[in-house]
Amino acid sequence: DASDLEKGTYPYYMLKEIDEQPAVLRHIIQEYQGEDNQLEVDEALLAAMMEADRIHIVACGTSYHAGWIGKHYLETLAKIPTEVHIASEFSYNQPLLTGKPFFIFISQSGETADSRQVLVKVKELGYPALTITNVQGSTLSREADHTLLLYAGPEIAVASSKAYTAQMTVMAILADVLGRQKGHDSQWDLAHELGLVARAMDTVIDEKAQLEELAQAYFTDTRNAFYIGRGLDYYVAMEAALKLKEISYIQTEGFAAGELKHGTIALIEEGTPVLALVTQASNASHTRGNVEEVRSRGANTCVIAMEGLEQEGDQFILPHVHEELAPLVAVVPTQLLAYYATLQRGYDVDKPRNLAKSVTVE
Ligand code: G6P
Repeated sequence: DASDLEKGTYPYYMLKEIDEQPAVLRHIIQEYQGEDNQLEVDEALLAAMMEADRIHIVACGTSYHAGWIGKHYLETLAKIPTEVHIASEFSYNQPLLTGKPFFIFISQSGETADSRQVLVKVKELGYPALTITNVQGSTLSREADHTLLLYAGPEIAVASSKAYTAQMTVMAILADVLGRQKGHDSQWDLAHELGLVARAMDTVIDEKAQLEELAQAYFTDTRNAFYIGRGLDYYVAMEAALKLKEISYIQTEGFAAGELKHGTIALIEEGTPVLALVTQASNASHTRGNVEEVRSRGANTCVIAMEGLEQEGDQFILPHVHEELAPLVAVVPTQLLAYYATLQRGYDVDKPRNLAKSVTVE
C-alpha cells in the first residue's frame, strides 16, 4: 500500500526516521538561514520575546524532554530565566506568573490535547505564545501568536526520533538569534557547528551494526535498565530511557547520575544494564565515578562517550561536536539501541501497545 511505498526499503518507519536526522538538520539550517547566511527568526517573534522576563516551556513526552534542552539554550545563550512544564500538570501546579511571561509550546503534531488546554488558558490570560511544531496549520500553531516549524517531514513511528533532534535544533537557533539580538556574544557560528553535528550523526548511523550488537549484549534478557548522565547528558538520559521503554517494554529509568546513590542504586542487581552518557568535560569524571559505583555492585555498564572524553573500554564513541550540541548526537545511538532491542525481543517497533502517535484527549 501507499504507506509501504513511503517506507521504501526500510522495515520500519522508525529506522527510516532515525536515518533521516542528518538531512533534517541540514534542511533546518537552510530554512532558518537568511540572505547573508545568518540564522534568523521572524521579526515579530523576536520583538515579542525581547520583552519577556521569563519563559515557560510546555510540552508532553519526548517534546517535554526537548524542552529541558531548550531551557538550557535559552538560559545560556539568551539569558532569560526559563521553566519547563509537563502540560498535564500545569493547571495543578500553575507557576506564579508575574512580570512578562512568554510561553513556548513544543509539539511535534501540534494536536496534543494536554498542551492545547494550557495554550487556551494562556491566551485567556492574554500572554504571548509560540508553538514549535512539525505540522503547519496544526491546532497549536493556529491558536498561538507565533509558529516555528521543525521541517522534519512526516514522523510516522509512534516513538519520536527526528522530531526530537529537530526540536532541539530549532530551540538552539531561537536562543542563539535571541541572544545575539540582546547583544550577548555567542562565540560560535551555530550554523557551522550544526553542520558538524549532521556529519557526526551520519557517522553514528553508519555504525548501526555495532549498536545492534550492543543491544544484543545489554537488552535481550533484562527486565529493567538505567540511563544516567549529568547536566545535558541527564536530559538525554531521560529521552533515551523513554525511547527504550516505550517500544521494547524494558522498564527503563533516566537518572541524574549523582542521584542514583540516593535510592535507586538499591535496584542494581547482578547484570542490570546501566548506560552512561559522557559528553560534558565538566562532569565526565563524576559520571564515571557513578559508573564504577554500580559496576562494583554487579551492573552491566556501558559508556557512551564523546571523542576527547573517551577512555579505554568505553563501548561507544561519539564523534566530537560542540559540547552544547552533544545531545543531538548522543541521542542517536540510544534511538538505535531501542530500535534493535525491540526487534530482538520480537515487538512491532512502529506500533507499541497502548500508545498513540498523537493524543487528543486530556
Ligand atoms: C504521544 C506520543 C509521544 C509524544 C507525545 C507528545 O504521547 O506517543 O511520542 O512525544 O505524544 O506529542 P507531541 O505531538 O505533542 O509532540
